[in-house]
Amino acid sequence: MASVYVEELGRHIGTEVLIQGWLYNKRSSGRVRFVLVRDGTGIVQGVVTPDADPRTFELAEALPQEASLRMWGTVRAEPRAPGGVEVAVRRLEPVHIPSTPFPIGLKEHGPGFLMDHRHLWIRMRRQVPLLRIRDAVLWAIRAFFRERGFVATEAPVLVGTAVEGTTTLFPLDYFGAPAYLSQSGQLYLEATCMALGKVYWIGPVFRAEKSKTRRHLTEFWMAEAEQAFLDHEGNLALQEALVRYVVEAVVAERARELGELERDPEALREEVAGPFPRVTYHEAVEVVRKAGVLMEVGDDFGAPAEDALSAHFGRPVFVERFPAAIKPFYMKRDPAHPDLALCADLIAPEGYGEIIGGSQRVDTEEELLAQLREARLPEEPYRWYLDLRRWGSVPHAGFGLGVERTVQWIAGIPHIREAIPFPRTLERLYP
Ligand code: 4AD
Ligand code: MG
Repeated sequence: MASVYVEELGRHIGTEVLIQGWLYNKRSSGRVRFVLVRDGTGIVQGVVTPDADPRTFELAEALPQEASLRMWGTVRAEPRAPGGVEVAVRRLEPVHIPSTPFPIGLKEHGPGFLMDHRHLWIRMRRQVPLLRIRDAVLWAIRAFFRERGFVATEAPVLVGTAVEGTTTLFPLDYFGAPAYLSQSGQLYLEATCMALGKVYWIGPVFRAEKSKTRRHLTEFWMAEAEQAFLDHEGNLALQEALVRYVVEAVVAERARELGELERDPEALREEVAGPFPRVTYHEAVEVVRKAGVLMEVGDDFGAPAEDALSAHFGRPVFVERFPAAIKPFYMKRDPAHPDLALCADLIAPEGYGEIIGGSQRVDTEEELLAQLREARLPEEPYRWYLDLRRWGSVPHAGFGLGVERTVQWIAGIPHIREAIPFPRTLERLYP
């Protein structure tokens, strides 16, 4: 008999199926035993009565949490059960019976304990729907770019140069020469976009962030896009369309999972329904200060400032035209205000912080040389990047969306560490 996944059971009402999975939980009520079986697509309740064969009836009592098993039985409608179905069990067959108790019970554990058992914790309620939401976010990003004719490309992870400042580089020894783990694929996407017109990639990037916050990982995934002949305005329109597309796709595909996380899909849809407000850096500083958060013009937005913006707008908001002095060397200056960069950050609602950073890029060799010098970066390792301004340079722009921050916002979870299967932070390299 071919096996069926829990998420498909609704299509098999009245027939006998085989389900392969793990024992999530069990209980008894009178002479009836209930087994909750999970298989990655969902959890289903199996009902075992004394009419089942004696071995099955005994296993329903004896199998420990996370025993792997096969379960044969007839699917029937049960409006009170999650998914609207349950299984009248005919037979249980263990695949592997653990000899020691599963370390994670169904009760509360501290975050340190759970993180030490991340390899097992990911099997639990909340974690499974979260990882399924992450999957939907990644697919939606790919679908969006594919529909718009962007070409998927790649950037190297081993690099010789900084992109986002020199303070968060992870250095490594590359056969005796200095090298780093990439902070962003952007510079390489600028090269591939001159070959392919419009490109994107979704890849791992690395930041030696010394901060312990709910929003920072040292290894995270970035979805980056770069387009030739795109200007600052077009860049914002593209980002807005992407974010709306991703939220709508996840709400449509993962409504059940959002429900399991007590996230209201309609509220999410509402947040992205209208045009995203846009404010300049200077206007944003005013909003932040009026909300009582201390900051000076020229400071970057800290978490409290981002939260104030978030609370003020209640939807994703673009903060445009930062002082060039606090932004990286590659951003094009606003011709009307050369002290400002043609850039924007997109701040998520509900205090989830910055989810996108992007800009129009410097497109002349002269300006790029000057800005490298201002940033005190050496010219030599950027020779290839300067070349892009030497042959057929065009206006171009792009951005990077933080995948885990986006998952965190959409799923509505307090800490970024649950938005990736195996988080890497200042204090964590295990498991
Ligand atoms: O704003 P960032 O630093 O922009 C860049 O790296 C550009 N080179 C991207 C580009 O234009 N192609 O990072 C982009 C996004 C941020 O908005 C944030 O969502 C996320 O990446 N991010 C982090 N996510 C988790 N942990 C961290 N330490 C992050 N740092 C940035
Ligand atoms: Mg940024």
